[in-house]
Order: sequence, then C-alpha cells, then structure tokens
Amino acid sequence: MEIRTCRTVEELRDAAGAIVHYFGRDKPSEEWSERWLNNFELARMHAAFDDGAIVGGAGAFSFRMTVPGGESVPTAGVTIVGVLPTHRRRGILRSMMRAQLDDVHERGEPLAALFASEETIYGRYGYGLASLNVQFDVDKTYGVFRPGVETAGRVRLVDAATAATQLPAVYDAVRLVTPGMFERSASWWEHRLLADPEDFRFGGSPKHFAVLDVDGEPRAYAIYRLHVSFGDLGPETKLQTIEVIAGDPPATASIWRYLLDVDWTKTVSTRIQPVDHPLLLLLARPNLARPTLSDGLWVRLVDVQAALSARAYADDRPVVLQLRDEFCPWNEGRWKLQGGDVSRTDDDPDLAVDVADLGSVYLGGFAFRDLLRAGRIEELREGAVYGADVTFRVDGAPWCPEIF
Ligand SMILES: CC(C)(COP(=O)(O)OP(=O)(O)OC[C@H]1O[C@@H](n2cnc3c(N)ncnc32)[C@H](O)[C@@H]1OP(=O)(O)O)[C@@H](O)C(=O)NCCC(=O)NCCS
Repeated sequence: MEIRTCRTVEELRDAAGAIVHYFGRDKPSEEWSERWLNNFELARMHAAFDDGAIVGGAGAFSFRMTVPGGESVPTAGVTIVGVLPTHRRRGILRSMMRAQLDDVHERGEPLAALFASEETIYGRYGYGLASLNVQFDVDKTYGVFRPGVETAGRVRLVDAATAATQLPAVYDAVRLVTPGMFERSASWWEHRLLADPEDFRFGGSPKHFAVLDVDGEPRAYAIYRLHVSFGDLGPETKLQTIEVIAGDPPATASIWRYLLDVDWTKTVSTRIQPVDHPLLLLLARPNLARPTLSDGLWVRLVDVQAALSARAYADDRPVVLQLRDEFCPWNEGRWKLQGGDVSRTDDDPDLAVDVADLGSVYLGGFAFRDLLRAGRIEELREGAVYGADVTFRVDGAPWCPEIF
C-alpha cells in the first residue's frame, strides 16, 4: 500500500471520495474540487493507493489557531479523512496518520487539530479531547429570557456580498480572545461560510445572514437556515443556526432574542456552541433548551516545545512533565515549563502524562485535575496537579465554531 500526497485534482477527488462514500454520495464533483482548492493545498492531501487505485485519503488545512494568551499558532486542520469500507482495518488510517504527522512536523506546525466522527479513533495518534460542544434545541415556547435581560440595537438581513464586508470583523474580535478559533481568509469566508451550494442545504432554506447593529456598528451576526414545515395546527418550522457570533453581552442577548423570536418557528436548534455559552444563563428555563454535550475539537501537540512555548500561563510556578508520545517520539522525555520557557530537564517530574492528555489541557478545555480523577495521568509529587492547574489556568472555554 503506497501512501503519498496527491499530484492532480483527479487524485484529490478520488482521495476525498473515501469519506464522501460515508455521506452516501458519489465521488466529489469537479465543481467541489474547484471550490475546495480555494482554501486547500493539493500537496496537503495524502492518499492511499492499492495497486494504483485510491482507497483512502487524509487532508489538512493550513490554519492559524488562537491559543491561550491570544497567539495565532500554525496548526494543521485535519480534514476529509476516510478509508473505503473494502479496505478498512488494514492499517491504512495508521499509515496516513504517520505520513501526515511527519509532514506537519516537517512543516514546523506545532499543532494539529480536528473534529472526530467517532471519539475512539484519534487518541492513539496523540490527539486529546480539547473542547466540549453544547447543542441547544429550544422549544419556542420556552425561549423566554429571565427577567431583566436588556437587548440593544437592530437586526438587518443582508446578502452574502454585504455579509462578506461585515461579518469578518465581528468574528475576528471574538477569535482573538477565544482559544480554538482559527483565522479566516477572505477566500475562506467566500467559499466556506458565505457560499451556499444547493446540495449542502440538506432540506433547509438558503442561508440567511442577520447582522445586529448597535450604535451603527455591526456587533453580532447569525447565519442560519429555516427548515420549513407545517403541521395540522400551523407552522412548525425549525430555525437551524450555522454560526452565531457576538462580541459583548448586550450583543449576545440581542442576537439570540432575534433568533428566538422569528415567527413560524417551533424550535431553534443550535449546534457546536461552547460549553460555557451564555444562553444557559440568559434563558429563564435553560433545562428546556435541552442542552446536549458532545466532543468538540481534538488537539495534538506535534512539537511539544513550540506548542507549550506559544501559549500564555496564569502563573510562573514551574511544572515538570514526564511526557509519553509513542506516535511522535521526538516529543518524548522530561520537559520543564516556567515563565513561558520550555526546555528539556533532568529535574524530578511532577506529573506523568501522555501527549493526548496534554492536548486536552492545552487550550484550557480540561484541567490536570480532571485527568487525574479519570485516572489518565499520574501525580508524582504531592500537590503537583494543583500547581500545574494554577499555571495552566485559562479563563473561558475553548471553542471552534466551525466543523472543518
Ligand atoms: C475511521 C477510518 C478512517 C479508519 O480507517 P482504517 O484504515 O480502518 O483504520 P486502521 O486500520 O488504520 O486502524 C487503526 C486503528 O484504529 C482503530 N480504529 C479505526 N477506526 C476505528 C473506529 N471507528 N472505532 C474504533 N477504533 C477504530 C483500529 O481498530 C486500529 O486499532 P489498533 O491500532 O489498536 O489496531 C475508516 O473506518 C473510515 O473511513 N470510517 C468512516 C469515515 C470516518 O469516520 N472518517 C473519519 C472522519 S474524522
């Protein structure tokens, strides 16, 4: 089985065809590859060849992701991973992950991140669950805020061309302070967020773009679809959000008030929200918003020294980690972290951790204490977990609002 990067667009389409198979679709069209290549380098698509035929693929976007402290760190955004059912469980994914992580390492990207279709797949390659998502399905009847919540501004519906000029600044203000969010180019906005090909609507309306202005400035936006339906007693439409971003508390309350008040809707459904989403505290009956927890971003420290050096810390107390990393042995060993400096050390270790566990705490989504309670790490010095958590503490939950 040969693993190499794609050389032609035709190979890209075949390699992406492996994952597309599981969506019940045919090999992606030429139109798809044309759109996809606006934001993707052909040389970042690995393919698995069996006797000349492509049977699997694994790609990566070249992202820059916000880490605690606000730095934008080069990150491989792993995407369209799949192996055809005819070739499953023969080690093809493992071989592609090997080739891809070696490539990421050579490119000097300290991090890799992905959304997993199943939580059992990527831990073995050093990815740790790094953020949690909440889905809300708010029955319109219970979409009432608690007393005293004030809203501000006015909402405009705009077309995609206007959205292209107004949404990015709102997004960027939130991105800069939210670990897990990544930079978007104009092309990403155009071909991913604002594009609306019919075969990706899954029964919904075209995308609607709503912009909230406060004092004449865009301060929040929502991209959503209506899944229109009528029951015996009248309209039962579902409003499905695609992305809702608000930069401050009044803007948050106001854009959600708008979404929860759209007439003819029965339910407002919103996926991929951060686990500390303010909607829980805005709604009078948060239980009835049916919050459902799921995994979010998975993070892999590809270059542990560079990755740990790139983020900020809440305290200067030293932490010495005895790190296991079977899949990327260049990271193995004992690392000392103090005042933002990260170096190899012979000092006694505080904690024994696997690189996947470090991925879980890296963005602030989990604490070492959580990992200890789950039996995932070992405390080698009494009180070390507490100390490490003081150092690694991050305000707010990490969040990536877009599955890539
Ligand atoms: C997930 C998928 C890519 C795995 O490919 P594969 O070539 O069968 O995987 P491998 O044979 O290399 O398996 C490597 C290891 O992962 C395990 N594994 C792979 N897929 C798994 C899954 N879905 N659940 C649990 N374990 C899985 C294998 O058992 C094997 O374990 P081992 O190393 O302990 O022996 C493939 O099944 C697939 O395309 N699934 C549907 C699409 C999908 O989910 N893609 C991932 C999108 S994020």
